[in-house]
Amino acid sequence: MKQDIERILIPRDRIQARVREMAREISEVYGDDSQGLIIVPVLAGSIIFLADLIRFLPFKMKIGLMTISRYRGATTSGGEVRLVQDLTLDIHGRHVLVVDDILDTGKTLRMVVEQLRGRQPASLRTCVLLRKPARAPKDFAVEFVGFDIEDVFVVGYGLDYGDHYRNWPDIGVLRPELYA
Ligand code: XMP
Repeated sequence: MKQDIERILIPRDRIQARVREMAREISEVYGDDSQGLIIVPVLAGSIIFLADLIRFLPFKMKIGLMTISRYRGATTSGGEVRLVQDLTLDIHGRHVLVVDDILDTGKTLRMVVEQLRGRQPASLRTCVLLRKPARAPKDFAVEFVGFDIEDVFVVGYGLDYGDHYRNWPDIGVLRPELYA
């Protein structure tokens, strides 16, 4: 894997420190309401982030799973976002936090939020580890953001290219010649 990574953008110790901080920020917002929290991860990119984040959360919570599919080119997001398998939990009247790996064009999160809003949760917030400000839509606010990054294609810590590199522990820039 190492030879495919051009450079490390965010090393593992910085990721861990920030994820711990994000858990604190999330705990502060939910406070006494935290017992009712349902976390909805956007699979599969968020799995490593989710696993680390929830272990820093000091309150009871549930994970609701839903599967979406994205038709996209090799390294460009966009394309059609479709709900493949519906949520496993009823979120009516519950506090919901959607967790994704990266906010790029925002198409994915927007679709997920639209799906969930109709089910009348008590509150609905979003959390991403990474955001690309150069591409993220100005009219879509994400409540919890780990890092703002430059517009490069990144892999590792759950993020993939062709389903590979999710197990790379740092966030790295993929060599462009691999997908050019
Ligand atoms: P949108 O454009 O819907 O994109 O906000 C979000 C999804 O696109 C994928 N994506 C990436 N995946 N490195 C990746 O490994 C990247 O730099 C990248 N940019 C977008 C990812 O699946 C994300 O959830």
